[in-house]
Amino acid sequence: MQEAHTNGLNAERVADALANQGFAVIDHFTRPAEVQALHKAIAHHREEDSFRKAGIGNAHLFQVDKEVRGDYIKWISPKEALPATLNFLQRIEELMDGLSKALFLSLKDYECHFAIYPPGTFYEKHLDQFKSTNNRKISFALYLNQSWRPGDGGELRLHLDEIVDVEPLAGRLALFRSDTVEHEVLTTNSNRYSITGWMRDRPLGLSLY
Ligand code: OGA
Ligand code: MN
Repeated sequence: MQEAHTNGLNAERVADALANQGFAVIDHFTRPAEVQALHKAIAHHREEDSFRKAGIGNAHLFQVDKEVRGDYIKWISPKEALPATLNFLQRIEELMDGLSKALFLSLKDYECHFAIYPPGTFYEKHLDQFKSTNNRKISFALYLNQSWRPGDGGELRLHLDEIVDVEPLAGRLALFRSDTVEHEVLTTNSNRYSITGWMRDRPLGLSLY
């Protein structure tokens, strides 16, 4: 599993890890100062009260189910994004273009949200593709937990041939295939902060959800 773990940004290596193992982990994707700036963005959105309890299912079957996932989310719209958020979106777009070429996926768009998991919450094992659509190709999560330690919980658990637990360390970007990799967020014991998103092969504006 060592090859799936890479420092810095090299789209081809990330693409290889995704193709061969279904997932990739990029440490230091985001520098500490940028992680701090993203925390300020989160604080800003909390002040304006724009985090909402996350639901499951698609737009037609929206339901809030405490048993399945316990996070609060704020969808990111580039139009109203703060500079730190825009900077992150730009990096994701560059990575998406690199992955698109390397994996012949024709990735065209992405969607993402901030997420906060309060202590005691989790996200049960699931796949990121809705049953009725298959436009999500690559899932990604940027972790923003500045002083995460073993015991804090909230690891990303990937169910591959074997189980892989990814520690949600600040600045770390985890990526995995949306269509095949079942995964879960283990119960967190402290507030867990992230940006989670999906690279798509169909622009958002051209599909219902
Ligand atoms: C999700 C999800 C993983 C994580 O939001 O669908 O699986 O590590 N998130 O936050
Ligand atoms: Mn998921």
